Parts: sequence; structure tokens; C-alpha cells
Amino acid sequence: MAIQWFPGHMHSTRKAIAQRCQAGIDGVIELLDARLPGASANPLLAALTAGKPALKLLNKADLADPQRTALWLDHYNAQPGTRAIPLDASAPASLTTLTTLVALCRTLAPLRGGMTKPLRLLICGIPNVGKSTLINRLVGKKAAKTGDEAGITKEEQYIVLASDVYLYDTPGMLWPKISVPRSGYHLAASGAIGRNAYDEQEVAFELLAALQPAYADRIEARYRLAGVAALATDALLPAIARQRGLVQAGGRLNLQKAAEVVLNDFRAGLLGRITLETPDEHAAWLSEALAAEAALDAARLDKKTRRTAR
Ligand code: G4P
Repeated sequence: MAIQWFPGHMHSTRKAIAQRCQAGIDGVIELLDARLPGASANPLLAALTAGKPALKLLNKADLADPQRTALWLDHYNAQPGTRAIPLDASAPASLTTLTTLVALCRTLAPLRGGMTKPLRLLICGIPNVGKSTLINRLVGKKAAKTGDEAGITKEEQYIVLASDVYLYDTPGMLWPKISVPRSGYHLAASGAIGRNAYDEQEVAFELLAALQPAYADRIEARYRLAGVAALATDALLPAIARQRGLVQAGGRLNLQKAAEVVLNDFRAGLLGRITLETPDEHAAWLSEALAAEAALDAARLDKKTRRTAR
């Protein structure tokens, strides 16, 4: 079943972002999860900030597959008005990180800067991507956090990165319709989606299915299994439950517990450095999803036309 999660507070965030965009921004910093860059890129944000220069920070790069991170960096850096760098916001940030970040931000809008035309940047990301971690590090170093700004939303805060560089913070946000089903699973596996919006066994099954082709060796090493690449995908979770001795009363395998183990291991990086999607794979899934949506829309329209013609 496709996963969707867009609670009420995200509607407010969307409004706040739209208001800030209207009030004026010079660029957008989007934190992506380096393990799922395509799934964690917010299409709503792309629409709200269309045409603005963008800095993509591929965060949690320490948990991602370096070869695939390189593919994603090439992918984003080839786009006009876009710069992308890998980041580990959890590592003790040196002053160099802040200096590098500010320097990169300045390249986004070189005509802005100075007291009369401060560089105004919006920082966004999906829940759990590490935005607070990054901001806390920045604030803990040189930057200072300010209060509300009159005329904009009450919650809006900006952080002074440099005397003429302002960073507008926004709460974590997803989008109303996750079109690519696999993106929903990848987001849920990463911890970006509220626990009640998905079934852990289903997400663990999909996660293992995504890992099996490229990372069978990691599953083997973590769960002491053999021949994982050749196993039927739906045999993986039961094999892990069996291997870990996760058995319920009556001798039935506890697949729920096994699913929790797999998801926690992935989130904590205990399966090794993993990236769930390449740029090409994500592009293919997206065009598949869009084609399916278009076919569904056409079928609906056809049905409606027939009904009115009767
Ligand atoms: P958010 O504001 O975007 O919702 O995310 P937040 O900063 O709260 O980060 C979510 C979790 O991700 C935190 O772990 C945080 O430590 C971890 N994290 C953030 N950036 C990175 C990174 O670059 N690499 C790694 N490995 N982890 C990162 P937590 O377990 O939820 O909390 P805590 O144990 O740090 O308190």
C-alpha cells in the first residue's frame, strides 16, 4: 500500500514557506538524506522556490555509499543554479564548515551581500534529515539565532550566519502526495514518516527488497545468513527472524520484531554504508509513477465522459 503522510502542521509549514518566498529569498538550502536523495527531495519545495539558486546538502553522507553519493553530486551539480555537497552534520563541526557553508551560500547569489542587500536563504528538509543538528552546530559556533521577524509568520526565525547572510529556518516537511511508491518506503525506512502512517513489516520487506540486489553481502554479514542474493525476497525477513531466534508463543516467527530490528539497524547504519537509489533508478521510478498516474487520470476521464454521454 502506498505510504502518505502530510499532517496539519505541514500545511502550516507550506504556508510559511510560501510567505517567506513572497517576502523575498535569494536561495534555498535543501538538506537531503544522502541514503535516499531522490526520495527526500521535496517536489513541493521545488515548486515553491522554482528559479531560485539551490544548495543541496547531502546529509548523513557518513551512512551513505560513497560511490552512489558521487553519482548524486554529479547529478545535482550538473543542474543550472544548483550546487551540491556531502555533509555529516553529526560530526563535530569545525569553523571551516561554517566558513565553507557561508562561502558556498554567497556563490548562490553573488549579487547579494553587504548590509543593504543581505543574502536571505531558506533552509528546508524532510523530518529527521538532520536540520536541527546542523543548525545547532552552526548556532553553537559563530552564528546567532534571532527572534521573530515582524510581518512574517510568528514562528519564523532567522539565523545570522554572517553579518550579511540570514538563514530562515522552517520545520521538517513532506508533501501531500508521494507519487513514487518506493520513495514512500525509503522515507519510512529512514524515519522521516510518522510511525502510525506505515506498517513496519511492509517497510522492512521493501527495504530488504531494495538492499538485496546491491547489498546482499551486508545482509549476510549482519544477520549471519548465506546465499542472500539467491533467496526469494519474501524469505528474507523470516530468515532473519529465525537466525535471531525471534519466535512467538506457539513457535511462530515474530516477523514484527524482525522488521523492527531491520529498520533500526538501517537507521543506525549497522548494515554499513548504504544508498537506496541512484539518480537513474529514481528517474525511472518517477517516470513510471507519472505514466501510471496519467493512465489513471485518462481512465477516470473516460469513465466520466461515458457516464455523462448516457
Ligand atoms: P531534523 O531536525 O531534520 O528532524 O533532524 P535532527 O537534527 O533531529 O536529526 C535526526 C537524527 O539524525 C538525530 O539522531 C541526529 O543525531 C542524526 N543525524 C543528523 N545528521 C546526521 C549525520 O550527518 N550523520 C548521522 N549519522 N546522523 C545524523 P537521533 O538518534 O534521532 O538523536 P540523537 O541520538 O542524536 O540525540
